[in-house]
Amino acid sequence: MNKFIWHIYAYVYDAVLLKLIPYRMMIDEVCQALDSVNGNYYLDAGCGTGNYLKPFFDSGKSNNIRITAIDCSQSMITRAKGKIKGNGKQVDFYKLDLNNKLPFEDETFEGIICVNVLYSIQDPEEMIGEFYRVLKKQGKLVLITPLDQPKILPIIREHIDELINKYPKKWRVIFLSQLVKSIIPMILFIPINLYITANNDFWFLTEEQIKSLLTSSNYCVQDSSLIYGRQNIFILARK
Ligand SMILES: C[S@@+](CC[C@H](N)C(=O)[O-])C[C@H]1O[C@@H](n2cnc3c(N)ncnc32)[C@H](O)[C@@H]1O
Repeated sequence: MNKFIWHIYAYVYDAVLLKLIPYRMMIDEVCQALDSVNGNYYLDAGCGTGNYLKPFFDSGKSNNIRITAIDCSQSMITRAKGKIKGNGKQVDFYKLDLNNKLPFEDETFEGIICVNVLYSIQDPEEMIGEFYRVLKKQGKLVLITPLDQPKILPIIREHIDELINKYPKKWRVIFLSQLVKSIIPMILFIPINLYITANNDFWFLTEEQIKSLLTSSNYCVQDSSLIYGRQNIFILARK
């Protein structure tokens, strides 16, 4: 059932989320967080439709960046591939389940991002341990996951505040046109999100629980905050 959810989600994910300024701000924050990493090989674990790939290449790092992107959903991977097709960047895609051991050597990557995936993993400690194994020494992990029972209104509020800041005169027209364009994808997007938050297969940890998982797996937690309308927990940890 969960694979089916990701398959359906792939069709509406970008149509809703890429319009949201807080979602785009989150992409920027992830790229900035890994700015200080000295290296060029990264893992996007649960890459979804690949929204972090191009911004990451564009974020001013070296030209030799290489990314491995993994996801359990072929529909998500197909969309991610489409986004970077023809721009000459090196991304290796693998259809893999993060509930299993990763097929990578110890100390392979300089940075790992894992955004909004943790809540669907059966054993988060196991996955975090696998990330630790495949990270190089001093490598960094950016982990983002929603709060328990995240709310949509604070995200919309932040979106509107940003629109008002950027377009003080025409923000209402922009918002209304975004709303109209989102109506059809929302018909699927909202029930999928309600299913995820209500279903026992998905479960949410607190900021303290995640930090404690990371420290017990030997990471050093460098930063943590609430982002995305304060509905997502952002954590930066170093091996
Ligand atoms: C909410 S989306 C997030 C996508 C992307 N990281 C982003 O923030 O835009 C969750 C993604 O995790 C993937 N996923 C969920 N469980 C997974 C698992 N066990 N192994 C690999 N990928 C998984 C889904 O297919 C989906 O693409």
